[in-house]
Amino acid sequence: MGAAQASIIGSEERKANRKAAVAGRSVIFKIKRCDGPGKPWRWESFKVPTEPGSNVISSLNWIASNPVTVDGKETTPVVWDSNCLEEVCGACTMVINGRVRQSCSCLVDEYAPREGDEIVLEPMSKFPVIRDLWVDRSRMFDALQRVKAWVPIDGTYNLGAGPQESHDHQQMRYALSECMTCGCCLDACPQFAEEADPKNWDKNFIGPQAISQARLFNEHGTGKRLKDERMDTLMGPDGIQNCGNAQNCVKVCPKGIPLTESIAAIGRSATVHSVKKFFTSK
Ligand code: SF4
Ligand code: SF4
Ligand code: FES
Repeated sequence: MGAAQASIIGSEERKANRKAAVAGRSVIFKIKRCDGPGKPWRWESFKVPTEPGSNVISSLNWIASNPVTVDGKETTPVVWDSNCLEEVCGACTMVINGRVRQSCSCLVDEYAPREGDEIVLEPMSKFPVIRDLWVDRSRMFDALQRVKAWVPIDGTYNLGAGPQESHDHQQMRYALSECMTCGCCLDACPQFAEEADPKNWDKNFIGPQAISQARLFNEHGTGKRLKDERMDTLMGPDGIQNCGNAQNCVKVCPKGIPLTESIAAIGRSATVHSVKKFFTSK
């Protein structure tokens, strides 16, 4: 089965699979591999024993210790990235059976409950591949710099307490602050260009994650001091107007961040910003 035919299953089916999982079975991991930037792609399959609670990362660890394909060919260990192992850092994001998600929280039982079932792993498609399943997510951090996604406080002395905000406002911003820069929303966004040239990342659609983070900092009592600069960037080339409103981003965000709400909110701010500029510019 190629990755294109891999079926994307819903949460109910995954729950049913977890209940039906057969103990002591082996699962086939079919992995899209590449030895480095510009090198050719190849597919390799590995037969991996599973235990209750096995996840994709533990299976990759097993392959790293036993790098032999189903055809008995010795190969190099598969390379991937990970850090927190609890869906907080976003580093382990990859495409699993056609859907972008974190591999640390992906249970084998949910995707492959029977002996010989297959799980297909591919690297994210919108980021340059470093090796195998490991990609370079720098373009996302570059986008955060473009929108100045920070609170501008500088100095070595005590600045005192920050501005007060209401509980409701705090809750709204908290939801946005949960972004872990994983890249799922960008991988799923049809407007976000594939593997853009690292020297020209600022020549590409900035993407829903940076738009939402700009909203987070525009809504902060001190962070809003940079709001005009953020809006200039977001209203410039490859900014918010490139969003085609396909809403794929919000469907795949593992943190449930209201990305389309953020896009709409920034759209409204853009209108206000244009009017303000019209009346204040000479
Ligand atoms: S709504 Fe905009 S940002 Fe989200 S997936 Fe669609 S085009 Fe991309
Ligand atoms: S908005 Fe969601 S999907 Fe996008 S990078 Fe942040 S956590 Fe990941
Ligand atoms: S290792 Fe951090 S999210 Fe998976």
